[in-house]
Amino acid sequence: MKKRILTGDRPTGRLHLGHYVGSLKNRVRLQDEYECFFIIADLHTLTTRPERTGELEENIRQLVIDYLSVGIDPGKSTIYLQSQIPEVAELSFIFSNLVTVPRVERIPTLKDVMRDSNIQIPSLGLLTYPVLQSADILMVRAHLVPVGKDQASHIELTREIARDFNRLYGETLPVPEALIPDDIGTLPGTDGKAKMSKSVGNVINLSDDSETVRKKVIGMFTDPARVHGNEPGKVEGNPVFVYLDAFAGDGDMKKIEELKNRYTKGDIKDVEVKEYLFEGLERFLVPIRKRRAELENQPELIDKILREGTEKARTEAQETLKLVLDAMSLNYFSVKR
Ligand code: TRP
Repeated sequence: MKKRILTGDRPTGRLHLGHYVGSLKNRVRLQDEYECFFIIADLHTLTTRPERTGELEENIRQLVIDYLSVGIDPGKSTIYLQSQIPEVAELSFIFSNLVTVPRVERIPTLKDVMRDSNIQIPSLGLLTYPVLQSADILMVRAHLVPVGKDQASHIELTREIARDFNRLYGETLPVPEALIPDDIGTLPGTDGKAKMSKSVGNVINLSDDSETVRKKVIGMFTDPARVHGNEPGKVEGNPVFVYLDAFAGDGDMKKIEELKNRYTKGDIKDVEVKEYLFEGLERFLVPIRKRRAELENQPELIDKILREGTEKARTEAQETLKLVLDAMSLNYFSVKR
């Protein structure tokens, strides 16, 4: 039997090249080897922006389009909508009783999110964010959870919950493992900051048009110590070269090596490297844009993929909840659920 994977995203806006390098590319590859579930975690957005539910439907649609346009294949993988699976909330409540308040207060993402979202006092929902995430993961009885480093503490909590549950009620839930990419999986922002991030505004979106991509690339940060094209420049950690390496196609390697050599010697202007990068990114983005355009015209197809994926995930959730309630002896009276 294939091992099972669960990962996903909150529907907060368009996905960018950083998402592609850090996770989407990997997901596309994992689809063949594993049984993959991709959750669209709309309930999780309530933890920081409960007043913005009006945006969710469009964001969800765009997220599915982003997924499909890079090659996530609904024929192989299950894409589903968290909020349409009520069993998740039920499991989350059950799990919340296995976790203390100080335990969740210590999870490092809490402080990060409070700072980034300008929240002084966390809601109960925000405090239990990682418990809800644990319910997502355990609900499909996933073995592996590919996530960024920032999410490691949430998977650790999930493992604790699974172990505690099994200890209290008998062996029921698989203890999942995190699959965390190394630092090479982190794409810097166009401004040279360590990470591409929407809130910072240093991103190139998968859905950006050609003109937007050109502008962003031409405006990119390079080696800050280099003023003229005839001065020796630094290649290492220079985002223009990091992007070139990350998006190099077959046959680009020799050219990239040559550009790096010339850059190191001070024998090329930034703009020439950027032109080459722009062309490379376009080769990558043009087919994605084409698939996007096709999908934008088929809203019923997106609905169908989500509906079918959610039905499939819900069957898993119901099974898990039954196992959980049975293990806890909470299955009395055979009430039809
Ligand atoms: N917390 C994740 C993020 O912000 C999104 C998420 C929700 C998730 N549920 C999940 C990721 C379950 C992996 C598994 O990126």
